[in-house]
Amino acid sequence: MFRRQQEGDGRAVVTEDRVMQALSKVYEPELHRDLVTLKMIKDVSIEDGVVGFTIVLTTPACPLRGRIEAEARQAVMAIPGVKQVNIKWDASVPTDNRIMGRLALPLRNTIAVASGKGGVGKTTIAVNLAVALAQSGAKVGLMDADIYGPNVPIMLGVEWRPPVKDNKIVPAVAYGVEVMSMAFLVRPEQPLIWRGPMLHSAIRQFLSDVAWGDLDYLVIDLPPGTGDAQLTLAQSVPLSGALLVTTPQQVALLDVVKAVEMFNQLQVPVLGIVENMSGDVFGQGGGRRLAERYGVPLLGEIPLDAQVRSGGDSGRPVVVAAPDSAAGKALAQMAKEVAARVSVVTLSQADVIPLTTLG
Ligand SMILES: Nc1ncnc2c1ncn2[C@@H]1O[C@H](COP(=O)(O)OP(=O)(O)O)[C@@H](O)[C@H]1O
Ligand SMILES: [Mg+2]
Repeated sequence: MFRRQQEGDGRAVVTEDRVMQALSKVYEPELHRDLVTLKMIKDVSIEDGVVGFTIVLTTPACPLRGRIEAEARQAVMAIPGVKQVNIKWDASVPTDNRIMGRLALPLRNTIAVASGKGGVGKTTIAVNLAVALAQSGAKVGLMDADIYGPNVPIMLGVEWRPPVKDNKIVPAVAYGVEVMSMAFLVRPEQPLIWRGPMLHSAIRQFLSDVAWGDLDYLVIDLPPGTGDAQLTLAQSVPLSGALLVTTPQQVALLDVVKAVEMFNQLQVPVLGIVENMSGDVFGQGGGRRLAERYGVPLLGEIPLDAQVRSGGDSGRPVVVAAPDSAAGKALAQMAKEVAARVSVVTLSQADVIPLTTLG
């Protein structure tokens, strides 16, 4: 009691400058810059030793919120005279300038979900990623660019004959995610034969002729493999980064190596690898070894779980149908890791953070 009074008597007047100074010692663990330099602090208020401020994250799906909160609180509490710290949260997803430069669309980031081969759960990952990001509060679109097997609508339980408004195709909305799929435009029995130029223009139309909202993330389910179609697609759309899906089996892992090389060649940053159907049957750890060898992060290990399959079959993704299951939790956590990686690669292109400062 005596001490606090003494401090209150002038030795320690809490000012906004002191608060900002304290917060300039707190680093955003993934962006390797402090909260003040990153302009993440706003609305500082000081009243009678009670300090309030808002931390503006680079994604509402920030996996490190707890750590940032603890460190910011500790830093400000250490200022003499501070009795209490109240932190509020906000998020502002940075815009990937490479996208804005090439498209006249309000898309902040595009995330390609790719795999070296089919059947590894690429669409399952894309769908749950999109829904989990939307659940966290982000504005999300999902573009089904798997022209060979456009099954995003089934996994989301949407049937949609897209209306046209102001010369643009209106996407469906499922679980808060705007969705566009080739399956909305063709009859199921209609065979699709694609040639390079057609593919290129079809996918460009999926961007420019669709009335996408103001999106933080557009998730794109690419066709499996690393052939011409994948190359064409990956070149037709400016991509912030690619997420590679694999299973633990050796063959699947080898295919991922090819995919990593393809994206490297295209100068599309590989966000990381997700090992799906991780567990007893196929083993575990292959994704981790691969990630280490290629120096890319492992962003999730999703267990083999019948609830994932039934979620896909019934049109209720497991992050909605069974969010507390091990698979549901692993997918939600994966979405956060992916969002954090997008922030890192997007900000590495921007002026605020020189590339060399990123780890
Ligand atoms: N973690 C998982 N556990 C159980 N089944 C899964 C899992 N991931 C995907 N599946 C199932 O495997 C099948 C193939 O998945 P899908 O996402 O369509 O693969 P891809 O898009 O790579 O061809 C689907 O029936 C899906 O429900
Ligand atoms: Mg698929």
